[in-house]
Amino acid sequence: MKLESILFESTDLGALKLKNRIVMAPMTRSRATADGIATPIMATYYAQRASAGLIISEASQVSLQGTSYPNTPGIYTKEQVIGWKKVTDAVHEAGSKIFIQLFHGGRISHPNTQGGEIPVAPSSIKAEGLIHTSPQNEMKAFVSPKTLKAVEIEDIIKQFGNAAKNALDAGFDGIEIHAANGYLIDQFLRDSTNKRMDEYGDSFQNRTRLLIEIIKEVRKNFSLQKVGVRLSPLSTFNDISDSNPLGLYSYLLQELNVYNLAYVHLIEDATAYKNSDFLNGVSATLGKYYKGKIVGNGGYTLEKADFEIFNSIVDVVAFGKLFISNPDLPKRFMLEADFNVPDESSYYVGGEEGYIDYETLEG
Ligand SMILES: Cc1cc2nc3c(=O)[nH]c(=O)nc-3n(C[C@H](O)[C@H](O)[C@H](O)COP(=O)(O)O)c2cc1C
Repeated sequence: MKLESILFESTDLGALKLKNRIVMAPMTRSRATADGIATPIMATYYAQRASAGLIISEASQVSLQGTSYPNTPGIYTKEQVIGWKKVTDAVHEAGSKIFIQLFHGGRISHPNTQGGEIPVAPSSIKAEGLIHTSPQNEMKAFVSPKTLKAVEIEDIIKQFGNAAKNALDAGFDGIEIHAANGYLIDQFLRDSTNKRMDEYGDSFQNRTRLLIEIIKEVRKNFSLQKVGVRLSPLSTFNDISDSNPLGLYSYLLQELNVYNLAYVHLIEDATAYKNSDFLNGVSATLGKYYKGKIVGNGGYTLEKADFEIFNSIVDVVAFGKLFISNPDLPKRFMLEADFNVPDESSYYVGGEEGYIDYETLEG
């Protein structure tokens, strides 16, 4: 018997018409070449998951300096654009749409992954913990990042604009600006990592300035109806936090209303329910400040997705880990089939295993 669910209904998301409301969340899988070029198995992997209404690619750096991890794709060289075109062609042929997630890692990096250079950040505050620094998954401590000068920030804004242009050439249907999970834009947003006292620090207006300037730069060549923004208001992943997340993100979402984006992508976090300002969850709390479409993500089940779409808390839902191990996830939802369990040990190790060899219901 087939399950009835609003998730299987088509919907508009900015300029796009999606065949269903099931989105594949962006996930780094470290299967690119050392030069950040997408490989043939990446085309296979994404095409296998084309029953999603929309696929959002793994985080892709806008420059060498923006690299966080080894063997992750970039979108700043001609070769990288050619590599990605093979991926977008494969996804389109298989019947889905694909956005590229654009990012700069900021301090979440290591000199080994950026040609010996010291990573950059809004302020020189070292992240606690260890980072992958080689394809063999050698872990090293983070280093103290260099504080970005205002003129260097301008350069990074241009890198995002250039990457967006490249994304068009590579055949992507749109882009998602990664302003979540403790990477560079998030390091500017939140006050545990941003101690600047210039026009990029201190007030909400100043801390959100980098993201807004990137959106304006991207807009020069790209319809904002094909642009999403990803935020993780409560996540502490990558050693980051904010003293007033409700204040910061309610301010930011109202600012974003001006730009007519395709969507804002909000990551739920279990800690939300313990935060007195977010007792109903991230999207339920912040949604009222944003007029456009919301993509929900983070620990969703089909039931929770249905409930939140039905109650207008979110418009579509992105699934991460479930898509890693279930290339035919929408079909499994529809048939109420069991899920394959993802193998965490193969998330970032390269190769076909744990990447393109998960079985579909057909085998
Ligand atoms: C292996 C792996 C890699 C990830 N890489 C990214 C990434 O590149 N960009 C991003 O925004 N989130 C990334 N995430 C977070 C996911 O997009 C998602 O927010 C998270 O898995 C929670 O959703 P889920 O409960 O449906 O898995 C990653 C998650 C996993 C498991």
